[in-house]
Amino acid sequence: MDKAKRKAIIAGNWKMNKTPKEAKALLEQITPLVKDADCEVIACVPYVDLATAIEATAGTNVKIGAENCHWAANGAFTGEISTGMLKEIGVEYVVLGHSERRQYFGETDETVNKRTKAALAAGLKPIVCVGELLWERECDITEEVIARQIKLDLWDVTEEELKNVVIAYEPVWAIGTGKTATSDQAEEVCAFIRAQLAKLYNQDAADAVTIQYGGSMNDGNADELLSKTNVDGGLIGGASLVAEKFAAIVKAASK
Ligand code: 13P
Repeated sequence: MDKAKRKAIIAGNWKMNKTPKEAKALLEQITPLVKDADCEVIACVPYVDLATAIEATAGTNVKIGAENCHWAANGAFTGEISTGMLKEIGVEYVVLGHSERRQYFGETDETVNKRTKAALAAGLKPIVCVGELLWERECDITEEVIARQIKLDLWDVTEEELKNVVIAYEPVWAIGTGKTATSDQAEEVCAFIRAQLAKLYNQDAADAVTIQYGGSMNDGNADELLSKTNVDGGLIGGASLVAEKFAAIVKAASK
């Protein structure tokens, strides 16, 4: 299994933070710090920040992602945003199935799957988030939970489409809690995810998928987490809102 075959990707997930003005200011701090990155750098920002973010990163190596999208092309879905809307303004990535959407907004594996397929059909690259709750880990069913999410979230996604999918392993108990999974715990589940992908597709297809870790990843622990064979990048919450911290994580992934 050759880590070099895969693209290292560091993505910020800004969640519900930063107004357009603040987004512009933060991206102006981030872009010069990451300009020599030897990995893909993405900022996933709130919908209203997208246009500003795309403008602020034009001509740089920072790509912009959204934090969700709907599966329908258009229609009576008040408050939702379509893949076509994102595509037209130059969005490249979209975070899907984040645990906060699953926990607070009724997202299910079925809707994550619909969004994933719609994103892929529109030419967006989904960052599909999976991860177990603390209680599920304590009950020793982490692998069952992850296997189910991977199978359902990627249902009907073709091997060709899989090339544009990024998986983020985010143990729910590690998100925003300051509790990071140990690098061994992260590696164990990321390797398990790859094994599931090999079962559903084949080993070559699985080996090419970028699998990120997310959950209290920061400038202090990124080196260790990213040193693991199956941890190909990070999906960063809190630390992505501080330019120097985010840049340090990008640097760790560029080694
Ligand atoms: P934190 O880095 O703030 O724990 O958030 C992780 C996350 O949810 C990224 O999507």
